[in-house]
Amino acid sequence: MPDSPDPRIRKLRELRAQTLVAGGEDKIKAHRAKGKLTARERLDLLLDPGSFREIDAFVTNRPSGIGMSTQHWLTDGVVTGWGTIDGRLVYVFSQDFTVMGGSLGAAHASKIVKIQEMALKNGAPIIGINDSGGARIQEGLMSLVGYSDIFLRNTLASGVIPQISAIMGPCAGGAVYSPALTDFIFMVKHTSHMFLTGPDVVKAVTHEDVTFEELGGALVHNTTSGVAHFAAESEGDCLYLIRRLLGYLPSNNMEEPPCVKSKDDPLRTDDALDTIVPDNPNKPYDMKEVITRIVDDGHFFEVQEHYATNIIIGFARLGGHSVGIVANQPAVLAGVLDINASEKAARFVRFCDCFNIPIVTFEDVPGFLPGVAQEHGGIIRSGAKLLYAYCEATVPKICVITRKAYGGAYCVLSPRATRGDLVLAWPSAELAVMGADGAVSIIYRREIANAEDPIAKKAELVRQYQEEVTNPYAAAQRGFIDDIIEPHDTRPRLINALQMLRNKRDANPPKKHGNIPL
Ligand code: HXC
Repeated sequence: MPDSPDPRIRKLRELRAQTLVAGGEDKIKAHRAKGKLTARERLDLLLDPGSFREIDAFVTNRPSGIGMSTQHWLTDGVVTGWGTIDGRLVYVFSQDFTVMGGSLGAAHASKIVKIQEMALKNGAPIIGINDSGGARIQEGLMSLVGYSDIFLRNTLASGVIPQISAIMGPCAGGAVYSPALTDFIFMVKHTSHMFLTGPDVVKAVTHEDVTFEELGGALVHNTTSGVAHFAAESEGDCLYLIRRLLGYLPSNNMEEPPCVKSKDDPLRTDDALDTIVPDNPNKPYDMKEVITRIVDDGHFFEVQEHYATNIIIGFARLGGHSVGIVANQPAVLAGVLDINASEKAARFVRFCDCFNIPIVTFEDVPGFLPGVAQEHGGIIRSGAKLLYAYCEATVPKICVITRKAYGGAYCVLSPRATRGDLVLAWPSAELAVMGADGAVSIIYRREIANAEDPIAKKAELVRQYQEEVTNPYAAAQRGFIDDIIEPHDTRPRLINALQMLRNKRDANPPKKHGNIPL
């Protein structure tokens, strides 16, 4: 760009250039040496090329903190603005670790709040890239007030616009609660950490020796705590995954999700589905294969892939339209519902319901997991969360029972009686209070014990029970399932059902909000 003769323009350009290296070249070098991208490089990768528009670059830190009256940091450690992803508007903030460790002072917080309010008012998703040492210690209470301001906006925006958090460095103290209030948390393996108190404080209080990675690394939060939803291989991978996720979501709760037509024939059938469920009801199979064989182009965008793997959640398209998929995974713990699986699925069902995304459930569930640990851990409360989430949801709800639909778990996973819109069953479906073996052992205990050949007697009673009770025709006779379909036909049947439900209107009674058993 040629030099300007106007000193005012020259001053603007000079200041602008300073904002681009707000923390100084040395800090940027040290930051890159840790294998991390800068706050601006991250935005460049996240957004469509050239679409980023920054605001508040000239904001500086408030000089009121201890030892800060002479320090003026342009941007105050966070880059804010908007841009587009696949041509659709999004709002963004990206914390700059090179400025006081990305710590949050009053000005930093007010920049984030401004962007949150713009996103909410204009109905577009907000993506926060977090890389911060938490509350700026020098600014004391001002930082805590700043966090509270952000938490309030997170809560008000919940269910109105999608809120997405990427964790790309340390995320300590108050810095973790804003992400925790958002819809999806992405972490990067080995370079991102989330914790309330770091290893030093843990050591001082509980005498536990723990590394950053063991305490709050991407794998821990994606496998053990369930706090995070995605563990990316690199920062670039993380930003790419966020772009993909947004492709399934509407910009706000008043919009429908975008429809992306594919070349995958809506009438495509798949014969392999006819033999995927083993004859032996105790044998596992991979429900992910069922899903990928059915959805458009076999693309399934799985959420929380590594947590509570006995249930599968994620996004896909059917006939071009976004759907949220919830599926039991018979290949893990026989697909049983436990505390973690119930909570994982409940939150996902509620997200889909907020954002007008129909829910397709693939059911093969032997029930809730028995055991002292589960009972004392509150499986009653956790299971109730999932029950509540499904009952409350007014988006189209379609259930395909591939095999077991037993006990309380049957009641939870979107049956007709809880406003499920369509329940389809494969011929392999078994619907009952419990499996034939367990049921016969209880109700025919005396007959079996007194029989000449108890084993043969039990086998005969099991067969009889299966014929009379658990088979799908018994449920179809009463209208509890709407149709029994051949598995190879599942894709065309689901696409047809989604079309049939496109204009569904349903509502809950007027209320301030319900009281989900948290
Ligand atoms: C002010 C901070 C800071 C903070 C880091 N810095 N955290 N400045 N307030 N919270 C500064 C450092 O002084 C340093 O400045 C620069 O950022 C880089 O930090 P380093 O420590 O050199 O980097 P690194 O070794 O990578 O360690 C990063 C870190 C560590 C793990 C984040 O800095 C750390 O533990 N910080 C404190 C984290 C913390 O306890 N936060 C909780 C605050 S309480 P110089 O000038 O040397 O480059 C809180 C409660 C809110 O958040 C509750 C709300 C509900």
